[in-house]
Amino acid sequence: MGIMEENKHLEEADKKYIWHPFTQMKDWVAETPVIISEGKDCFIKDIYGRWYLDGVSSLWVNIHGHRKKELDDAIKSQLDSIAHSTLLGLSNVPSVRLAERLIKLMDSSFGENSLTKVFYSDNGSTAVEVALKMAFQYWLHKGIKGKHTFVSLKNAYHGDTIGAVSVGGIDIFHKTFEPLLFKSYKAPSPYCYRCELDASYPECNFLCLNEMEAILKEHNEEIAAVILEPLIQAAGGMITAPQGYLKGVRELCNKYNVLLIADEVATGFGRTGKMFASEHESVVPDIICLSKGITGGYMPLAVTISTEEIYNAFLGEFKDIKTFFHGHSYTGNPLACACALACLDIFEKEETLKNLQPKIKLLEAWLKEISAHPHVGEARNAGLMAGVELVKDKAAKEPFKWEEKMGWQVAYAAREDGVFIRPLGNVVVIMPPLAISTENLKQMLNVIEKAINTATGS
Ligand SMILES: Cc1ncc(COP(=O)(O)O)c(C=O)c1O
Repeated sequence: MGIMEENKHLEEADKKYIWHPFTQMKDWVAETPVIISEGKDCFIKDIYGRWYLDGVSSLWVNIHGHRKKELDDAIKSQLDSIAHSTLLGLSNVPSVRLAERLIKLMDSSFGENSLTKVFYSDNGSTAVEVALKMAFQYWLHKGIKGKHTFVSLKNAYHGDTIGAVSVGGIDIFHKTFEPLLFKSYKAPSPYCYRCELDASYPECNFLCLNEMEAILKEHNEEIAAVILEPLIQAAGGMITAPQGYLKGVRELCNKYNVLLIADEVATGFGRTGKMFASEHESVVPDIICLSKGITGGYMPLAVTISTEEIYNAFLGEFKDIKTFFHGHSYTGNPLACACALACLDIFEKEETLKNLQPKIKLLEAWLKEISAHPHVGEARNAGLMAGVELVKDKAAKEPFKWEEKMGWQVAYAAREDGVFIRPLGNVVVIMPPLAISTENLKQMLNVIEKAINTATGS
């Protein structure tokens, strides 16, 4: 088969055999799929040799770029020892080394002995499932019965498994599954641009926190934990919380004796400008969920890290059955753990966080400029995670209709100019690898600006 025939075959086979996630397949099969065959630095190449800037870090995972030598080498070298062995009844060298390294990282980010025990799993959703079950069982072990539910936020996204969806708050993704979900309390989203309480910040004095307090006051005996995405509700539309919100939630959790679960699956590993988003408000969660960037975007790996207090509650005699009964086939996978260790080495060696700061400034300057655009309602960011919310009518904050696919029109236009982005409804998402060069970031923002103009006819 010649190259062209082979490419055609791949395109047909994709349409025939793959059911893509979060994708209306009727639309998908009507078009020609872009099939990626290679990557280098912050770029990905399709089977026809066209390069695209990876504007969403391959779904928010890539940190140091593609084909990063140190990461490639770490995996190759681990392959010479062993690819996988279980953590159920055994341990393995990279998972021990990584756990030790992660706890050192917790010490430096949150203070010594703050978060001390690493529970492995393999994706963001399972890291959240682990956190929910852990929080629930913790209270049972403490002899406090009835704490069987959670407070989560409107517009929250914690993954797609049933537990994670139960604490989710994005109607378009989650509502269909309502009959399958456990009940949880929903506090208002700190979405100042479209405040559901009709208040305006800062005059509101955190009315949304008052609402959360009302829930906790009335129902704390049923509530095991508050779960949230610190600083920015990512999949909800890159919704940034005003400064002080997170700290306020921490204080409420203390006041009403519930745990705080920080889902840093998207925000972790530098995306917000600090290693973890919770650090911006000096908040120490009781449980933190990490995945995505943990391996630099190479391998599926996740961790749920708890305090010593939570861990200790599960200790007991074998007959007491206090064990945490949870685990997955690929828990603590050695290839993924070896890769994660190399990823953390690069953070240190290349001073990734320090080098990120001027790029964040550049992005923020552009966001400020684009805010004046007649079809931009709000442009917001936390570090290198940004969203540009498009509106039909700026004065009325009227959104484009879902079926107008405005976010997608922008993404398609950007693709024509060599930038791959994926929107969230009307929100254009900008989330390149942290390693992106200033020059490439400028180029990406220019392309997106042009694409917004093309799609909105401005
Ligand atoms: C905050 C947050 N939590 C959890 C998840 C789920 O992670 P995964 O897709 O790896 O299951 C995501 C994914 O985008 C996320 O953004």
